This record gives sequence, structure tokens and C-alpha cells, in this order.
Amino acid sequence: MKKIGILFGQERSFPEAVIERINQKAVKGITAEAVKIDKIFQNVPLGYAVIIDRISQDVPFYRASLKNAAITGTAVINNPFWWSADEKFFNNVLAEQIGVPVPKTALIPSRQHPTGTTGDSFSNLTMPLDWDAIFNYVGFPAYMKPFDGGGWRDVYKLHDKEDFFNKHAGTEQLVMLLQEEIIFEQYYRCYCIGGKHVRIMSYDPRNPHHLRYAVDSFTTSSALLKTIEEYVIKLCTYLGYDFNTVEFAVRDGIPIAIDFCNPAPDADIKSVGEENFEWVVETTANYAIERAQAQKDGQDNLTWGEYIKSSVAGKPLIAKSASKTTKKPAAKSVAEKTTAKPKKPTVKK
Ligand SMILES: Nc1ncnc2c1ncn2[C@@H]1O[C@H](COP(=O)(O)OP(=O)(O)O)[C@@H](O)[C@H]1O
Ligand SMILES: [Mg+2]
Repeated sequence: MKKIGILFGQERSFPEAVIERINQKAVKGITAEAVKIDKIFQNVPLGYAVIIDRISQDVPFYRASLKNAAITGTAVINNPFWWSADEKFFNNVLAEQIGVPVPKTALIPSRQHPTGTTGDSFSNLTMPLDWDAIFNYVGFPAYMKPFDGGGWRDVYKLHDKEDFFNKHAGTEQLVMLLQEEIIFEQYYRCYCIGGKHVRIMSYDPRNPHHLRYAVDSFTTSSALLKTIEEYVIKLCTYLGYDFNTVEFAVRDGIPIAIDFCNPAPDADIKSVGEENFEWVVETTANYAIERAQAQKDGQDNLTWGEYIKSSVAGKPLIAKSASKTTKKPAAKSVAEKTTAKPKKPTVKK
């Protein structure tokens, strides 16, 4: 019997529903339950073919347990190694390289020294930083948010540089992104499961929390939806997430990816609504069964993204489309100067 386990924290509706759905399907040789842990010994498997991880971002003990599970054969959804390595700034860099539009974004060092360091630890930072260049590149209004944040924690909208310095002064040890504001006509939040199943949801972040998904579907061209779907799949397969949400702000008809590092996205019935909930429960159940059936003992059963795979193989990251839509046409942005782009083949005359 292959077991599918769910590891979760305070959430209630989603984990229970997925367990129930998998068991209702009564697929021969497959069963689902909440993961049970009463000890972790090195190199001892936990006994699950698949574990769906909904909580290790908050519990380092679980993250280490999942790495132990992964190397002893469990297909962990999402890959705990990649999740440990990833953050939003890297996400944006990768998106640019694979041709998915993102807001212009700068990385800002933390206001306070990380615990255990002093000013002497920062021998390589030029102080003050080149703030003029940073503000010119990003522009105002701007958004400031943690490079590894989530759940809207410490997200600020900033109007000018004084506003930036005031707000940044209160961010303690957080490493922040300073990002161009995208003034959007539409906003979408998309589930992506297995790097192939996509659910595009109209979402209005300007509404109070419980009404964000309760927007009437925006009238949207099928071409835009197709582009969104293509970007969602591209981002999730290059990053290597089995389960993620990708948010887009649509400006002048162009979807710009805002937030796509959500490996344990909100799936509560109260926030996403009944129809989206049904989709995510059913798709997760089917996908977990598929992964359990494919799982083989004694080997790695994780999903690895195209970025890692091409790096390991020593191959360049292939950008299929190089459309850059978030830049002002005039001055060259920092990103344009620094981002490696695929070279056009030279044509012999
Ligand atoms: N660059 C941006 N332009 C416009 N709105 C933004 C931008 N960045 C964030 N926001 C707004 O702030 C919200 C939270 O930011 P987000 O990047 O999604 O962080 P979190 O991971 O905490 O959800 C978004 O849903 C969006 O409404
Ligand atoms: Mg978000």
C-alpha cells in the first residue's frame, strides 16, 4: 500500500478535504492520511510515497524532516531543497531570463545588522548606497516588501524617497525588495498544480480579504488568458514547483508577474470560495495519486525545475520569448544592462 501524507499547520478545510477525496477515489494500493511523526532518525524513511507539505516554511524541524524523507524516497510536494533556496528576488531574475514580464525590482540590504554581525561585517557594501540610481530605476510610487515574504506581511506602498526612508527604518532585519508599482486594470491569481494544471482566478487585492475572490469575472480576451496560462506554466516548471500560485497585474493588456513564490498558497474554502476550492481539492488529489503511482523506492522522486536541470547539465537557460514590456522605452534600465539574454544568431552576409 502506498501512503500519501499531508503535513499541515493551522489550516483545516483543505488538508481534510484532500485526504477524504483521495480515499473516496479508492484507487487500488493508495491511501491518504495526515502525516504522523513521533521521531526522526537520519536516513530512516517516514513511510510515505508522497507528502504534501503545507507548513514547513514556518517549522524548520519539518523542513529538515522532509529533506530526510526526500532522500529516502518520498515524493515531497514541493521540493524542500528548492523551497529552501528560493526567494522572490531570484524569482524575478529568472522570470526576466525566460521572457515573463516582471516589475523593475532592486534588492535592498536590511536596515539593521543581522544578529551576530556588526558594521565590520559589511566590508563590501558601499555606504551610502547609490540611492539616486536605485530610485531612478524603480520610480515612485513603489512597493517595498520582504524578499522572502508572504501573506502580505510587511508590504508597503511608497510615494517618494522620504516615505521609503521612513518606512525602511522600521523594517529591522528584513531584506527588502523595492519594486516599481504596476497600476493595473485587472489582477489574477492562478493555481498551478504539477506544472500543468492551471486555474486562473479573478482576484481583486484592493478588496477586503474575504471579498478578494468574490469579484465578477473580468471580461478578458482568450488571448490574454492563454498568455497568462503560458506564463504560469513556464514559471512553475522553470522554478520546479508542483504546487504554487502565480499573481499577475495586467497593465495595458500585458500580464506582469507580481508574486509567484507561494509553495503553500492559501486554499481555504472561506477565502477562495467553493468553486475554486473544489478545483484545488480535486486536482491536488489526482496529482498526488499520480505522483504516488510514479514513486519508486530507493531513488529521488522530487520535481526539479528547468533552471536547476539546465544548470546541472551545464546548458544555458533557453528563453523562448524575450518580450520585455515593463521598461520605459527611453533610458536603458539596470536590468537591461545586466540581464543575460539569448544571443541572436549572427547572420553571415
Ligand atoms: N509591484 C506591485 N505593483 C502593484 N501592486 C503590488 C506590487 N507588489 C505588491 N503589490 C500589491 O501588494 C499585494 C501583496 O504583495 P505580494 O507581492 O503579493 O506579497 P505576498 O507574498 O505577501 O502576498 C499584492 O497582492 C498586490 O496587491
Ligand atoms: Mg501575494
